[in-house]
Amino acid sequence: MNTVTLASLLCLLAGAATVARAEDPYFYFTWNVTYGTISPLGVPQQGILINGQFPGPNINSTSNNNIVVNVFNHLDEPFLLTWSGVQHRKNSWQDGTLGTNCPILPGQNFTYHFQVKDQIGSYFYYPTTSTHRAAGGFGGLRVNSRLLIPVPYADPEDDYTVLIGDWYSKTHKQLKTFLDSGRSLARPDGVIINGKSGKGPGGDEPVFTMKPGKTYKYRICNVGLKNSLNFRIQGHPMKLVEMEGSHVVQNVYESLDVHVGQCFSVLVTADQEPRDYYMVASTRFTKEVITATRILRYTNGKGPASTVLPKAPEGWAWSLNQFRSFRWNLTASAARPNPQGSYHYGQINITRTIKLVNSASRVGGKLRYAINGVSHVNPTTPLKLAEYFGTADKFFKYDVIPDSPPEQEPKLVTSEPNVGNITFRTFVEIIFENHEKSIQSWHLDGYSFFAVAVEPGRWTPEKRKSYNLLDAVSRHTVQVFPKSWAAIMLTFDNAGMWNLRSELLERRYLGQEMYISVLSPERSLRDEYNLPDNAPLCGSVVGLPLPAPYTI
Ligand SMILES: *[C@@H]1O[C@H](CO)[C@@H](O)[C@H](O)[C@H]1NC(C)=O
Ligand SMILES: *[C@@H]1O[C@H](CO)[C@@H](O)[C@H](O)[C@H]1NC(C)=O
Ligand SMILES: *[C@@H]1O[C@H](CO)[C@@H](O)[C@H](O)[C@H]1NC(C)=O
Ligand SMILES: *[C@@H]1O[C@H](CO)[C@@H](O)[C@H](O)[C@H]1NC(C)=O
Ligand SMILES: *[C@@H]1O[C@H](CO)[C@@H](O)[C@H](O)[C@H]1NC(C)=O
Ligand SMILES: *[C@@H]1O[C@H](CO)[C@@H](O)[C@H](O)[C@H]1NC(C)=O
Repeated sequence: MNTVTLASLLCLLAGAATVARAEDPYFYFTWNVTYGTISPLGVPQQGILINGQFPGPNINSTSNNNIVVNVFNHLDEPFLLTWSGVQHRKNSWQDGTLGTNCPILPGQNFTYHFQVKDQIGSYFYYPTTSTHRAAGGFGGLRVNSRLLIPVPYADPEDDYTVLIGDWYSKTHKQLKTFLDSGRSLARPDGVIINGKSGKGPGGDEPVFTMKPGKTYKYRICNVGLKNSLNFRIQGHPMKLVEMEGSHVVQNVYESLDVHVGQCFSVLVTADQEPRDYYMVASTRFTKEVITATRILRYTNGKGPASTVLPKAPEGWAWSLNQFRSFRWNLTASAARPNPQGSYHYGQINITRTIKLVNSASRVGGKLRYAINGVSHVNPTTPLKLAEYFGTADKFFKYDVIPDSPPEQEPKLVTSEPNVGNITFRTFVEIIFENHEKSIQSWHLDGYSFFAVAVEPGRWTPEKRKSYNLLDAVSRHTVQVFPKSWAAIMLTFDNAGMWNLRSELLERRYLGQEMYISVLSPERSLRDEYNLPDNAPLCGSVVGLPLPAPYTI
């Protein structure tokens, strides 16, 4: 990893009087993606490693840093990574989904180049191709505040990334075969915390150590496939400070429900008797609870952790109440020195309401998951490339789903590309309605949104009265409980082609995702970057003349 101190150089050259903006620092990574043997549940199995590591390396960055990651695909299948929650301003070319990028073919490499512009917080990256996420390839990504921006808590002694998730002992290819044959994934074989369940060799080794009296930051993300997990630490309450890029009101929790795709940052003080303590992650809303435990050790500690684990909460209501307790800290600065609450989202008029209902049905005897009756399929030419080269009409239609689905759930599900056309810079309300008996978790790329409500029942316009229009948290993932709905609001001011997906792997893999095209009418570089020079081309755009580039 190199830091180019171009910024300081430019400052010197530019002198005090000029307006030349120093370029933000660059960080370079070379990543080899390979198969390798891992033993997350204590038994060897095939995993996906990055530079030999599972989970993959952490990316540690600061707001506005440029991150350059040259990814070499040594697998036998096409591969892509997404940087979940990184907004890629003007730059959906780096988003790493099959609707925006050609996959990196076996033996090839592709260099992602993105800036963590005006962001802070805890994120993670993961593979979007096939069922690769079930085998690994994920890792933490943190964006620290710049030194000049005040952070609403004291600097912690250290900063730890905790990646929790359910785990299957089958290979990703076996799981893929399962889904391709029209079945759904059964219950997981285990739960892991940073790559291990706590069982088997090395299971009793401490993952992290704490000095007595010191306060530590833990960044907890659910990188799993399907299950919401409850996370807790024996004897140590957690002070929530940040959630998916926003500083929040600092409530203290005994445990947190972390739904698939979500990240929380908490502060934990080592103020207990010096010995070992268990971190616990266990499945929620499942008949049989599956639990992982891993050890935290006090540096002056003697003695094993108590075998009495703190109890997990039960039922949905607890989780819903916890969601309702999350509040944006209106006075804290985010990545810029102005308060988060200076953006009064509650006073902006809604220009469009889109209601999305998830469903599961059988098509030709095979399971498909859909949004408003359409199960997404990726054309061989990525949607964004087809659009950029002016050939979109050959591959997909915009707005194939209505903004509001019919009252009766469509029995017939069609499988086709599902692309919405949203007008640049409009303020839109999206309602997610979940009529099913299982939990849902939605994620939108390219944006943060205000998660203004999650409530039981069906949504009606009157339900707007229950929205939090003052201090809802700005985030990128929201859960929807069974037979419930969620409402989000956002301004579509980031031009590009953006993936809106179920974070539950089997649902996304079997079609529960869509893309949202946001085009700048000016075709200006101020709004969107051109296709990068190194982007591989695939499908029908190979050999086509490059379209006229966007200009200033
Ligand atoms: C990646 O693999 C290449 C050989 O394929 C090797 O030369 C290089 O050192 C590896 N890089 C890292 C960071 O592991
Ligand atoms: C991460 O980056 C920050 C800011 O540059 C630095 O203070 C910190 O030591 C780094 N942490 C790690 C684990 O590298
Ligand atoms: C592949 O890696 C080489 C360096 O080994 C680099 O020069 C090249 O730009 C990379 N290719 C892409 C498409 O990023
Ligand atoms: C919100 O942020 C401000 C400014 O950094 C801080 O002083 C305050 O303690 C925070 N409030 C809560 C409730 O966390
Ligand atoms: C929002 O809509 C209301 C009622 O239609 C209108 O009076 C108001 O001017 C609008 N506000 C903005 C900022 O456009
Ligand atoms: C997308 O929406 C914009 C703005 O409403 C409209 O001008 C444009 O024609 C639409 N594009 C397509 C392909 O439907």
